[in-house]
Amino acid sequence: MTTETGINIHTTAGKLADLERRVDEAVHAGSARAVEKQHARGKKTARERIGLLLDEGSFVELDELARHRSTNFGLDRTRPYGDGVITGYGTVDGRQVCVFAQDFTVFGGSLGEVFGQKIVKVMELAMKIGCPIIGINDSGGARIQEGVVSLGLYADIFFRNARASGVIPQISLVMGPCAGGAVYSPALTDFTVMVDQTSHMFITGPDVIKTVTGEDVAMEELGGARTHNTRSGNAHYLASDEDDAIDYVKALLSYLPANNLDEPPAFPVDADLTVTEEDRELDTLIPDSANQPYDIRRVVEHVLDDGEFLEVQPLYAQNIVVGFGRVEGRPVGVVANQPMHFAGCLDIAASEKAARFVRTCDAFNIPVLTFVDVPGFLPGTDQEWDGIIRRGAKLLYAYAEATVPKVTVITRKAYGGAYDVMGSKHLGADLNFAWPTAQIAVMGAQGAVNILYRAELAAAEDPAALRAEKIAEYEDTLANPYIAAERGYVDSVIPPRETRTQIVRGLRMLRTKRETLPPKKHGNIPL
Ligand code: HXC
Repeated sequence: MTTETGINIHTTAGKLADLERRVDEAVHAGSARAVEKQHARGKKTARERIGLLLDEGSFVELDELARHRSTNFGLDRTRPYGDGVITGYGTVDGRQVCVFAQDFTVFGGSLGEVFGQKIVKVMELAMKIGCPIIGINDSGGARIQEGVVSLGLYADIFFRNARASGVIPQISLVMGPCAGGAVYSPALTDFTVMVDQTSHMFITGPDVIKTVTGEDVAMEELGGARTHNTRSGNAHYLASDEDDAIDYVKALLSYLPANNLDEPPAFPVDADLTVTEEDRELDTLIPDSANQPYDIRRVVEHVLDDGEFLEVQPLYAQNIVVGFGRVEGRPVGVVANQPMHFAGCLDIAASEKAARFVRTCDAFNIPVLTFVDVPGFLPGTDQEWDGIIRRGAKLLYAYAEATVPKVTVITRKAYGGAYDVMGSKHLGADLNFAWPTAQIAVMGAQGAVNILYRAELAAAEDPAALRAEKIAEYEDTLANPYIAAERGYVDSVIPPRETRTQIVRGLRMLRTKRETLPPKKHGNIPL
């Protein structure tokens, strides 16, 4: 019997041809017009994106022939194979990953029952085998025709995002619209990468905002990639285009283990432990004036193999720098105050950025290297009223909770509560170093003298001279690393040129560190 496609499905050859036809239909589920529109916007199709992400020829598709059974609003007239999302597994640089890519060329990538079930299935697969899952988002949101079933499936996905959190790395690429509650899947994952100009995330769009609050705001300003990378902190990288976004995800994966029970990928090499000319450059990095900034990235890059540092959230809370690198070929996470921005002080944004990063490292067995030059917490009513107390506490919590190797180097200021917060010995750091330029004290000399000698300064004949004298006395007695060293709060005061070699030796020693937290259901981090 020959079907309307002209294929006789009662022969073996016909059955094979019929399969081929169906697969071809699945591959071309989006209309030529929709694909053209997608390309015209500078966007790739879901299949093209998967092709870029995975090693050539490694992709194995699942549920290619799945399709919806909904009859609402004429949906039964269009039942494309795949239902608007492509799922499966493959490899990135030879390592196993699972992937889903929403296909905007089919129903605007909107999520219906079958679409959602496909994502749930591949997430469960990733959990079962313990490999990263990468989700590519490009969708008009809940499929309107399928109503509450779509909402249910979103929640099914969120549930699995939460259950997978800290078990397998989860990475979201936002490469188009991602609106309404749909944004919560990327928000629950470890990293979100957005593409400049072509990706948007918001809970309510410009029209709803206009209706409800009267505010006028364009889509790009409201929820574009730049906004989420600089203002909201929802995104971790601003990609210039889709290729750049995918390259960043591949780089991230190269630092992450397959799962929480695995070690991060290592390419072991033996570091040269002699002090080099390059190491000596650090001896002249710290300016004589405590108020003069310098770029902490220079220290970070000195310590990391080949100076390679993959920054995470480089455009957000720039007063703290976080990211990945390698020491002797093994991944480390770096957290560093940045004196070039707000003098490196801690504020809400910086605390949350660093806390999240420390927890990510801890979840995935990546040692944390901390570089400290922090004058304290940012003062101000904005900060106080927005909750710097509970939100700053997150960073304390993250360090205290982390059981991975923790190594801290104080390069200059470590004042007040910020000294405690930034990977101090008291929060369980394993090795704490200080440079001779370190000033570990309750506060800076100016502030301290103003408080301690308020009355004397007011009564002095020459207040400037008295202030200078008291500042010098304070700096000589308290603003140095030696009082902390006397008590073992720092394990060693080292010349800056030895930083790299000390870190190498320290991390070698700490490779066998095993520490467990007391049994509990889970902690209660202040959120
Ligand atoms: C069904 C949808 C759809 C949706 C888009 N389409 N969104 N179909 N459900 N949510 C369809 C369109 O009808 C169109 O079909 C095709 O996809 C392409 O859409 P266009 O509008 O032509 O594309 P574009 O001009 O690029 O606009 C994209 C868009 C717009 C901005 C995303 O489509 C839009 O505003 N869609 C609705 C967004 C929305 O409100 N979603 C619900 C959010 S609430 P044809 O057949 O013409 O090609 C939500 C809740 C999640 O998602 C809750 C989780 C808890």
